[in-house]
Amino acid sequence: MFDEKSNDKTYRAIRHDITRKKQSEYCDTLHHPNQKINQIKKTLGDAPSNKDLKILELFAGQGNLTKVYSEYGSVIANEYKSSVFDILKDNVKEMSLVSCNRVDSFLHFHQLISDKQKFDVVDIDPYGFPNRFFPDVFLLIEQGVMFVTMPKPYVNILNGITQTHLISYYGEYNPNQESIIKRIVLWGLCHWRQVELIDCIDCKSIWRFSFSVKKVKATEYTGVKNR
Ligand SMILES: C[S@@+](CC[C@H](N)C(=O)[O-])C[C@H]1O[C@@H](n2cnc3c(N)ncnc32)[C@H](O)[C@@H]1O
Repeated sequence: MFDEKSNDKTYRAIRHDITRKKQSEYCDTLHHPNQKINQIKKTLGDAPSNKDLKILELFAGQGNLTKVYSEYGSVIANEYKSSVFDILKDNVKEMSLVSCNRVDSFLHFHQLISDKQKFDVVDIDPYGFPNRFFPDVFLLIEQGVMFVTMPKPYVNILNGITQTHLISYYGEYNPNQESIIKRIVLWGLCHWRQVELIDCIDCKSIWRFSFSVKKVKATEYTGVKNR
């Protein structure tokens, strides 16, 4: 378990402070925009033939990815931090198919589910773990793609709170990439979504996954006939 008094904590705490500072300065070294954009283009197709996609970006930041998504269709771009939201709005002001919302996505996605909204693409790109969106975020997609950013547990500060959080979602405090992917795929089945990994990129302290998501009939998926 985590030892509050270990020397390691000082080093890790310093690293944590540096990361927080980079977040507040919105550093590209933290957001990896080029890798994420390449993955989006690889997954959705480089030259967008389908410009009718309905896209939900839950953590739009200043809009690095919003601009790319707007080439594929209409985008709902959520951002909670007011100073970042103002920059986002300014960055996308010429894009008529982008609508920006200043909301807390961890709460607001429940509203979208309640409104029976469906999307072709959902992008989950928080600074921390995305686990609180699962499994219900799958209700927002019947057929489409989900991009998920996942901090690597083993390079992050695993204090008692983080460990308990990870145990509650994955059954272990330090799940590896394979366990995380398997669990996300299983969470899909909670709402009868067949989920398959399309791609995974490694960006220093995070993985970024793209998954295909398809609604399936429970009877057909399991081969069980209802009488
Ligand atoms: C990793 S950054 C997003 C980067 C962006 N996708 C990009 O590629 O440029 C995470 C963003 O989520 C915002 N954020 C933090 N908590 C949030 C919440 N509860 N709801 C919506 N946005 C939030 C942060 O202010 C930050 O801009």
